[in-house]
Amino acid sequence: MVALKPILLAGLVHLHLHALRGLAWASSSPTPQQIVRDLQARLSPGSEIVLTSDPGYARDFTQRFAIATPPAYVVGVKPVAVSDVQAVVRYSASKNVPFLATGGGHGYTFSLGRLESGIELDMSNFHSIDIDPAANTLTVGGAVQIGNVTAALLAAGRELPVGQCATVGLTGLTMGGGVGPYGGIHGAASDSLLSAEFVTGTGDILNVSATRHADLFYGVKGAGFNYGVATRLTYRVYPLTNNGDVMVVNTQFPGPLNGSVWELASRFVGRQPKELTLDFSLRWNASSGGMVAWCSFYYVGPQAEGLRLIQPFLDLGPLNVEIHAARYDSISSVALYSAESVGTIRGISFVPYSVNLYAIDPPSLISLFNYMNATMTGRPDLQTATLAWAQFSTYGFQLFPVESSAFPYRDVAVFFQYDGFGFNASQIPALDKFGKNVRSLMRPGSGRTDLEVYVHFGHGDEGPAAWYSAAKLPRLNALKAVYDPKNLFSYYNPVQRGRYGH
Ligand SMILES: Cc1cc2nc3c(=O)[nH]c(=O)nc-3n(C[C@H](O)[C@H](O)[C@H](O)COP(=O)(O)OP(=O)(O)OC[C@H]3O[C@@H](n4cnc5c(N)ncnc54)[C@H](O)[C@@H]3O)c2cc1C
Ligand SMILES: *[C@@H]1O[C@H](CO)[C@@H](O)[C@H](O)[C@H]1NC(C)=O
Ligand SMILES: *[C@@H]1O[C@H](CO)[C@@H](O)[C@H](O)[C@H]1NC(C)=O
Ligand SMILES: *[C@@H]1O[C@H](CO)[C@@H](O)[C@H](O)[C@H]1NC(C)=O
Ligand SMILES: *[C@@H]1O[C@H](CO)[C@@H](O)[C@H](O)[C@H]1NC(C)=O
Ligand SMILES: *[C@@H]1O[C@H](CO)[C@@H](O)[C@H](O)[C@H]1NC(C)=O
Ligand SMILES: *[C@@H]1O[C@H](CO)[C@@H](O)[C@H](O)[C@H]1NC(C)=O
Repeated sequence: MVALKPILLAGLVHLHLHALRGLAWASSSPTPQQIVRDLQARLSPGSEIVLTSDPGYARDFTQRFAIATPPAYVVGVKPVAVSDVQAVVRYSASKNVPFLATGGGHGYTFSLGRLESGIELDMSNFHSIDIDPAANTLTVGGAVQIGNVTAALLAAGRELPVGQCATVGLTGLTMGGGVGPYGGIHGAASDSLLSAEFVTGTGDILNVSATRHADLFYGVKGAGFNYGVATRLTYRVYPLTNNGDVMVVNTQFPGPLNGSVWELASRFVGRQPKELTLDFSLRWNASSGGMVAWCSFYYVGPQAEGLRLIQPFLDLGPLNVEIHAARYDSISSVALYSAESVGTIRGISFVPYSVNLYAIDPPSLISLFNYMNATMTGRPDLQTATLAWAQFSTYGFQLFPVESSAFPYRDVAVFFQYDGFGFNASQIPALDKFGKNVRSLMRPGSGRTDLEVYVHFGHGDEGPAAWYSAAKLPRLNALKAVYDPKNLFSYYNPVQRGRYGH
């Protein structure tokens, strides 16, 4: 009975805020047509401003990948200048019209669905890429994709740690940290950020770095989407490790070998060479009818050395072993048998759930694997779901103290995700229920009692302590008061929930 009281109160507050929101809309919000006219009057020529119902929107604007709970836009804006981004932020604040920046369009947290009747700020025109090999820096516009920069960096003999999907926006990735195979060597993508030109929630254009607005720079690196829009970013880059050559080995283990796979993977925890990545996809095999493990191994070093490290896995006798000589920019195109991730399809009904693992506990993982095998049997609508396992060395992440930025999770053994991919929106409820159960089975062996989830892999229901760590929240909330006091930036796994009670 006692526990019921706060729930009832929360319900009342929620209703109350909904009523206020309705009033605000009725009395002061401009119509979509009015928003278009207002922005046309404020933005520089060359900026594109359309109703989302116009054909120009589907033609010219970045289309989202995950659409299970997409942000709902009425107007699309493609600014050409930093001052245009500033004008949109100021307009939105003064007229109470929500907006959100789009970089690569890969964000998938369900929190995005809280945005209703808003403006899409498509950053596509910010696509410049400049590499200064002498200074070891890379400067990019706020919408470049990972695949755009890795090819350019390789050609210049440089590398930057990025994520594993070529079409993910580099800025979006960096705002939440950014983890990937070269993270074991150099840390999160955000650890290599040197400066950013940033339009804040107060409508100011600031250059942030370790010496200018250092307080905000701390927040930009790991929680950036809470404070503003980045238009230009400069990164430190590094000479190529192993001349840019990477060993990629693909293997497949039948379900009965899953326990041995967990056992061998666990041996690397706390002592994984920084050049080695274990990248697994646990999935239903339609032809054999059961769960199997696709296991890819990357080694940024001599192939003989890489093979020696993974020999215990090869000794288990996996199927379909492939050994590739890949390059810095081609790892994801050959990994996991070059199977295109369903996550790279635009318009996919994607239901994500994730838990950071700090330990690898074979008994828990066997239970999870068996649960999936049993649940997916005879359920074609669930057989599209996979688990993604990204096991990096913590070496690179621990080169930077946890106090150095908002990115909190430097000692993660495995970034573990349930990817509930649906090709049909009618699959979403079942994939969601299944994902919740999978997440609850991921937790007992995770090495933590509290839920900890890398912000970019979150479902959206975990809360700020899970995404940013409780220890960082006071500082992140203080930054909100200074740089986004109206809480305009509250739709992507936010530090603070939106002002409409959403
Ligand atoms: C197939 C796939 C693979 C992935 N692999 C990895 C991985 O290996 N490692 C990893 O760390 N993450 C990975 N992710 C997660 C990815 O980092 C996030 O989904 C990220 O939000 C994508 O950024 P985006 O710009 O593409 O998406 P968007 O949806 O455009 O943006 C996501 C969020 O960032 C904000 N944002 C975008 N651009 C800007 C900007 N210029 N200024 C301010 N805010 C901005 C948006 O407003 C939004 O809140 C992957 C995601 C997918 C779908
Ligand atoms: C890189 O940039 C161009 C546009 O500037 C885009 O069309 C292309 O698909 C991008 N992505 C990758 C992964 O190459
Ligand atoms: C930010 O830095 C860039 C590059 O040095 C410069 O062109 C720009 O004017 C600066 N902006 C502000 C607001 O200081
Ligand atoms: C997973 O491995 C365990 C331990 O070897 C085994 O008992 C179980 O059958 C396997 N599960 C599946 C679905 O193959
Ligand atoms: C998947 O099923 C096919 C067909 O039965 C089989 O050849 C293949 O070995 C299976 N893969 C695994 C990893 O068991
Ligand atoms: C996994 O599921 C398949 C298909 O139902 C079944 O044949 C197999 O016995 C299951 N494996 C385990 C270990 O339960
Ligand atoms: C989606 O699934 C439903 C229910 O299974 C089915 O009726 C419908 O035809 C499917 N739609 C598409 C586009 O496949």
